[in-house]
Amino acid sequence: MLKIAVLISGRGSNLQALIDAMQTPGFPAQIVCVISNVAGVHGLDRAAAAHIPTHVVSHRDFKNRQEFEQVLDARIRESGAQLVCLAGFMRLLTPWFVERWLDRLVNIHPSLLPAFPGLDTHQKAIDYGVKFGGCTVHFVRSEMDHGPIIVQAAVPVLADDTEETLAARVLQAEHRAYPQAVRMIAEGRVNVHNEKAFIAGAEAPATFAINPEA
Ligand code: GAR
Repeated sequence: MLKIAVLISGRGSNLQALIDAMQTPGFPAQIVCVISNVAGVHGLDRAAAAHIPTHVVSHRDFKNRQEFEQVLDARIRESGAQLVCLAGFMRLLTPWFVERWLDRLVNIHPSLLPAFPGLDTHQKAIDYGVKFGGCTVHFVRSEMDHGPIIVQAAVPVLADDTEETLAARVLQAEHRAYPQAVRMIAEGRVNVHNEKAFIAGAEAPATFAINPEA
Protein backbone atom coordinates (compact mmCIF):
# COMPACT_ATOMS: atom_id res chain seq x y z
CA MET A 1 0.00 0.00 0.00
CA LEU A 2 1.43 3.36 -1.02
CA LYS A 3 0.94 5.91 1.74
CA ILE A 4 -0.35 9.28 0.60
CA ALA A 5 -0.64 12.76 2.06
CA VAL A 6 -3.27 15.00 0.46
CA LEU A 7 -2.85 18.78 0.63
CA ILE A 8 -5.97 20.92 0.25
CA SER A 9 -7.17 24.50 0.61
CA GLY A 10 -10.94 24.18 0.28
CA ARG A 11 -13.89 22.12 -0.84
CA GLY A 12 -11.98 18.85 -1.23
CA SER A 13 -14.04 17.14 -3.92
CA ASN A 14 -10.86 15.67 -5.44
CA LEU A 15 -9.87 14.50 -1.96
CA GLN A 16 -13.31 12.85 -1.76
CA ALA A 17 -12.72 11.10 -5.09
CA LEU A 18 -9.44 9.74 -3.71
CA ILE A 19 -11.11 8.66 -0.45
CA ASP A 20 -13.85 6.88 -2.42
CA ALA A 21 -11.28 5.15 -4.63
CA MET A 22 -9.32 3.97 -1.60
CA GLN A 23 -12.43 2.39 -0.19
CA THR A 24 -12.77 0.15 -3.25
CA PRO A 25 -11.26 -3.32 -2.75
CA GLY A 26 -7.74 -3.75 -4.08
CA PHE A 27 -6.91 -0.05 -4.43
CA PRO A 28 -3.12 0.05 -3.92
CA ALA A 29 -2.88 3.31 -1.96
CA GLN A 30 -4.02 4.69 1.36
CA ILE A 31 -4.40 8.30 2.57
CA VAL A 32 -2.49 8.68 5.83
CA CYS A 33 -3.00 12.39 6.36
CA VAL A 34 -4.80 15.43 5.00
CA ILE A 35 -3.26 18.86 5.48
CA SER A 36 -5.05 22.12 4.78
CA ASN A 37 -3.42 25.54 4.76
CA VAL A 38 -6.86 27.02 5.53
CA ALA A 39 -8.82 26.25 8.72
CA GLY A 40 -12.48 25.27 8.66
CA VAL A 41 -12.70 24.13 5.03
CA HIS A 42 -15.07 21.38 3.91
CA GLY A 43 -12.23 19.11 2.80
CA LEU A 44 -11.18 18.73 6.45
CA ASP A 45 -14.69 17.49 7.32
CA ARG A 46 -14.51 14.97 4.49
CA ALA A 47 -11.20 13.63 5.83
CA ALA A 48 -12.51 13.46 9.41
CA ALA A 49 -15.62 11.59 8.21
CA ALA A 50 -13.29 9.02 6.64
CA HIS A 51 -11.26 8.81 9.91
CA ILE A 52 -8.14 10.23 8.27
CA PRO A 53 -5.85 12.33 10.52
CA THR A 54 -5.96 16.03 9.61
CA HIS A 55 -3.71 19.02 10.24
CA VAL A 56 -4.12 22.71 9.58
CA VAL A 57 -0.81 24.37 8.69
CA SER A 58 -1.74 27.96 7.96
CA HIS A 59 0.76 29.89 5.85
CA ARG A 60 -0.36 32.99 7.78
CA ASP A 61 1.33 31.65 10.91
CA PHE A 62 4.82 31.80 9.38
CA LYS A 63 7.26 34.56 8.53
CA ASN A 64 8.06 33.20 5.10
CA ARG A 65 7.40 30.36 2.67
CA GLN A 66 10.41 28.34 3.79
CA GLU A 67 9.26 28.16 7.42
CA PHE A 68 5.74 27.25 6.30
CA GLU A 69 7.06 24.51 4.06
CA GLN A 70 9.40 23.13 6.73
CA VAL A 71 6.40 22.47 8.98
CA LEU A 72 4.40 21.10 6.05
CA ASP A 73 7.28 18.77 5.22
CA ALA A 74 7.62 17.67 8.85
CA ARG A 75 3.90 16.83 9.13
CA ILE A 76 4.01 14.84 5.92
CA ARG A 77 7.10 12.89 7.00
CA GLU A 78 5.62 12.15 10.44
CA SER A 79 2.61 10.61 8.70
CA GLY A 80 4.85 8.18 6.81
CA ALA A 81 3.52 9.39 3.44
CA GLN A 82 5.50 8.36 0.37
CA LEU A 83 3.54 10.43 -2.14
CA VAL A 84 2.06 13.94 -1.80
CA CYS A 85 -1.09 14.79 -3.75
CA LEU A 86 -2.06 18.43 -4.18
CA ALA A 87 -5.84 18.57 -4.48
CA GLY A 88 -6.96 22.17 -4.81
CA PHE A 89 -3.96 23.30 -2.74
CA MET A 90 -3.67 26.96 -3.68
CA ARG A 91 -0.13 27.79 -2.51
CA LEU A 92 2.85 27.86 -4.80
CA LEU A 93 5.60 25.58 -3.45
CA THR A 94 9.25 26.68 -3.50
CA PRO A 95 12.06 24.77 -5.24
CA TRP A 96 13.19 23.59 -1.80
CA PHE A 97 9.96 21.66 -1.19
CA VAL A 98 9.61 20.52 -4.80
CA GLU A 99 13.16 19.08 -4.80
CA ARG A 100 12.56 17.25 -1.52
CA TRP A 101 9.53 15.49 -3.03
CA LEU A 102 10.75 15.28 -6.63
CA ASP A 103 8.62 12.82 -8.62
CA ARG A 104 6.73 12.04 -5.41
CA LEU A 105 4.60 15.20 -5.59
CA VAL A 106 1.60 15.38 -7.93
CA ASN A 107 -0.99 18.03 -8.73
CA ILE A 108 -4.28 18.21 -10.56
CA HIS A 109 -5.01 21.26 -12.67
CA PRO A 110 -8.36 21.93 -14.39
CA SER A 111 -7.07 22.44 -17.94
CA LEU A 112 -5.27 20.54 -20.65
CA LEU A 113 -1.81 21.83 -19.78
CA PRO A 114 0.22 23.58 -21.05
CA ALA A 115 -2.92 25.56 -21.96
CA PHE A 116 -4.30 27.90 -19.30
CA PRO A 117 -2.06 27.50 -16.25
CA GLY A 118 -2.82 29.58 -13.16
CA LEU A 119 -6.16 30.91 -11.98
CA ASP A 120 -9.44 31.54 -13.86
CA THR A 121 -8.71 28.57 -16.10
CA HIS A 122 -12.27 28.01 -17.27
CA GLN A 123 -12.96 31.64 -18.12
CA LYS A 124 -9.69 31.74 -20.07
CA ALA A 125 -10.72 28.62 -22.02
CA ILE A 126 -14.15 30.11 -22.81
CA ASP A 127 -12.65 33.48 -23.79
CA TYR A 128 -10.16 31.77 -26.09
CA GLY A 129 -12.89 29.69 -27.72
CA VAL A 130 -11.24 26.28 -27.39
CA LYS A 131 -13.51 23.34 -28.22
CA PHE A 132 -12.06 21.00 -25.61
CA GLY A 133 -11.13 21.58 -22.02
CA GLY A 134 -10.14 19.07 -19.43
CA CYS A 135 -7.77 18.32 -16.62
CA THR A 136 -4.17 17.28 -16.12
CA VAL A 137 -2.51 15.23 -13.39
CA HIS A 138 1.22 15.95 -13.39
CA PHE A 139 4.37 15.73 -11.31
CA VAL A 140 5.10 19.10 -9.75
CA ARG A 141 8.01 21.31 -10.76
CA SER A 142 8.86 24.73 -9.37
CA GLU A 143 7.25 26.48 -12.31
CA MET A 144 3.51 26.75 -11.62
CA ASP A 145 1.24 24.14 -13.26
CA HIS A 146 4.18 22.60 -15.04
CA GLY A 147 5.81 19.16 -14.93
CA PRO A 148 5.70 15.66 -16.44
CA ILE A 149 2.10 14.80 -17.38
CA ILE A 150 0.72 11.52 -16.04
CA VAL A 151 -2.93 11.61 -17.16
CA GLN A 152 -5.15 14.03 -19.02
CA ALA A 153 -8.92 13.86 -19.52
CA ALA A 154 -10.68 15.94 -22.16
CA VAL A 155 -14.24 17.27 -22.11
CA PRO A 156 -16.05 19.30 -24.78
CA VAL A 157 -16.58 23.01 -24.28
CA LEU A 158 -20.17 23.86 -25.26
CA ALA A 159 -21.16 27.05 -27.08
CA ASP A 160 -23.28 28.24 -24.16
CA ASP A 161 -20.89 27.21 -21.37
CA THR A 162 -20.31 29.52 -18.45
CA GLU A 163 -17.34 29.28 -16.14
CA GLU A 164 -19.57 27.31 -13.75
CA THR A 165 -20.95 24.77 -16.25
CA LEU A 166 -17.51 24.12 -17.74
CA ALA A 167 -15.94 23.80 -14.29
CA ALA A 168 -18.59 21.26 -13.29
CA ARG A 169 -17.95 19.15 -16.41
CA VAL A 170 -14.18 19.28 -15.93
CA LEU A 171 -14.56 18.42 -12.25
CA GLN A 172 -16.29 15.15 -13.14
CA ALA A 173 -13.28 14.31 -15.30
CA GLU A 174 -10.93 15.27 -12.46
CA HIS A 175 -12.65 12.82 -10.17
CA ARG A 176 -11.90 10.01 -12.63
CA ALA A 177 -8.41 11.12 -13.62
CA TYR A 178 -6.87 11.71 -10.18
CA PRO A 179 -7.63 8.30 -8.66
CA GLN A 180 -6.49 6.66 -11.89
CA ALA A 181 -3.16 8.51 -11.83
CA VAL A 182 -2.63 7.64 -8.16
CA ARG A 183 -3.43 3.99 -8.86
CA MET A 184 -0.88 3.84 -11.67
CA ILE A 185 1.79 5.46 -9.48
CA ALA A 186 1.01 3.11 -6.59
CA GLU A 187 1.28 0.15 -8.94
CA GLY A 188 4.80 1.31 -9.79
CA ARG A 189 3.91 1.84 -13.44
CA VAL A 190 4.88 5.51 -13.77
CA ASN A 191 8.45 6.50 -14.62
CA VAL A 192 9.93 9.88 -15.47
CA HIS A 193 12.63 10.11 -18.16
CA ASN A 194 13.86 13.40 -19.58
CA GLU A 195 10.99 15.25 -17.94
CA LYS A 196 8.30 13.04 -19.48
CA ALA A 197 6.16 10.54 -17.61
CA PHE A 198 5.81 7.07 -19.12
CA ILE A 199 3.11 4.63 -17.99
CA ALA A 200 3.83 0.93 -18.29
CA GLY A 201 1.00 -1.19 -19.62
CA ALA A 202 -1.36 1.69 -20.34
CA GLU A 203 -3.49 1.97 -23.45
CA ALA A 204 -4.64 5.06 -25.31
CA PRO A 205 -8.31 5.28 -26.32
CA ALA A 206 -8.99 3.76 -29.73
CA THR A 207 -10.79 6.75 -31.20
CA PHE A 208 -10.83 10.53 -31.29
CA ALA A 209 -13.45 13.08 -30.34
CA ILE A 210 -14.52 16.00 -32.51
CA ASN A 211 -16.36 19.08 -31.31
CA PRO A 212 -18.62 20.42 -32.67
CA GLU A 213 -20.00 17.54 -34.70
CA ALA A 214 -21.51 18.50 -38.05
C1 GAR B 1 -10.05 21.66 -8.72
O1 GAR B 1 -10.77 22.00 -9.88
C2 GAR B 1 -8.56 21.62 -9.00
O2 GAR B 1 -8.25 21.11 -10.27
C3 GAR B 1 -8.20 23.08 -8.88
O3 GAR B 1 -8.94 23.53 -7.78
C4 GAR B 1 -10.15 22.78 -7.67
C5 GAR B 1 -10.24 22.21 -6.28
O4 GAR B 1 -11.49 21.59 -6.08
N1 GAR B 1 -6.79 23.25 -8.71
C6 GAR B 1 -6.10 24.26 -9.24
O5 GAR B 1 -6.63 25.15 -9.88
C7 GAR B 1 -4.61 24.23 -8.98
N2 GAR B 1 -3.91 25.08 -9.92
P1 GAR B 1 -11.69 20.57 -4.89
O6 GAR B 1 -11.22 21.28 -3.62
O7 GAR B 1 -13.17 20.33 -4.86
O8 GAR B 1 -10.89 19.33 -5.18
